[in-house]
Amino acid sequence: MALDMKAIRADFPILSRKVAGGKDLVYLDNAATTQKPQSVIDAMTHYYERSNANVHRAVHTLATEATEQYENARDTLAAWFGTTRDNLIFTSGTTEAINLVAWGWARSNLNAGDAIVITEMEHHADIVPWQLLAEEKGIEIRVVPIDTERDILDMDIFSASLPGSSLVCVVHTSNVLGVANPVADIIAQSHDAGAKVLIDAAQAAPHHRIDFTGMGADFVAISGHKMCGPTGIGCLLATTESIEEMEPFMSGGDMIETVTMEKSTFAKGPQKFEAGTPKIAEAIGFAAAADYLSNFDMDELHGHIRGLAMYTASEIKSVPGITVYGDHSVSEGSGVVSFLHDSVHAEDLARFMDAGGFAMRTGHHCAQPLLNAYGVTSTNRVSFYLYNTMEEAEAFVEHLRYIIGKFG
Ligand code: ALA
Repeated sequence: MALDMKAIRADFPILSRKVAGGKDLVYLDNAATTQKPQSVIDAMTHYYERSNANVHRAVHTLATEATEQYENARDTLAAWFGTTRDNLIFTSGTTEAINLVAWGWARSNLNAGDAIVITEMEHHADIVPWQLLAEEKGIEIRVVPIDTERDILDMDIFSASLPGSSLVCVVHTSNVLGVANPVADIIAQSHDAGAKVLIDAAQAAPHHRIDFTGMGADFVAISGHKMCGPTGIGCLLATTESIEEMEPFMSGGDMIETVTMEKSTFAKGPQKFEAGTPKIAEAIGFAAAADYLSNFDMDELHGHIRGLAMYTASEIKSVPGITVYGDHSVSEGSGVVSFLHDSVHAEDLARFMDAGGFAMRTGHHCAQPLLNAYGVTSTNRVSFYLYNTMEEAEAFVEHLRYIIGKFG
């Protein structure tokens, strides 16, 4: 059954907004953050209007309700991501989730002589924490390059990088190229080599139901705000074995069992890594986002979004002076299309498009090594999500042709 685009768009109040002096908003910056449906906004508002209190601390009515709603959110999200509540640690997003693996697991389990494998396709959030840790501990970092002819990781070098490594950190789907990596093969090969695997699923979770148990990774990092949830919330999915091997990254209230002036002992499971007052309304909103997405067949949703990206990439490729990055001939991938014009500066182009009502991103997309591999310092990027329509994609292509015709 075809998606009911009118009904979907009506779920997102911001989409009826006008910009640029009365133009319809065409929001094409979804890889940076998605818009929020009314149900997510309502869930958070309802919590603040009715049940706002701190969690895990008091027995009064509001505190009990807040605790129930926060922990129910964990249950909803654990079910959505194919795991249990004991394997889901709330974080502020993917960046904190990766840092939690770096400082909570790797720092206490890896030492000089160990090696971590990362790739040139990573977001800075999956590069910088490893560089800092490597510097502190004398750990070796092995970098798998990207094959820029085929826009995929060089899997021969990947395989050759594995012997003797302890941890492999790979992005599921590139936020610049929209290309999806062969995650099942990456996990299988890494485990065969005796390494744990961390998957950055920030750009994949909005498109696919992440099945943590089925996927078999040791760690998966996810952001809520790229899948219709609020900003400031995400999660780290971690196997029970890995959680048991982790030390606290942040410490303080709520993550302890007992504290004396001499020594403290820690809570078990996810709570050990959720120090301080947690992101209560955000967790509730994140669960409401998963509930919202559960109204759809995720394969159908992905087909719709990817279809818009494939159409846009194939159309703009023929605009004189435009280079499109990433392979958009395959159905795997995301709603991202990065491109660059050879004479209209990326930022100028983004401003011209904004004046037409089209929101797109410009810059290095927090992936400077990847852009360096392609010999560029920034690109323009459009990224589609479930509420974008073919009419919007067509209007985008038409306006882009007009702008390039005028200024190119
Ligand atoms: N990492 C996000 C992006 O790609 C913010 O835009």
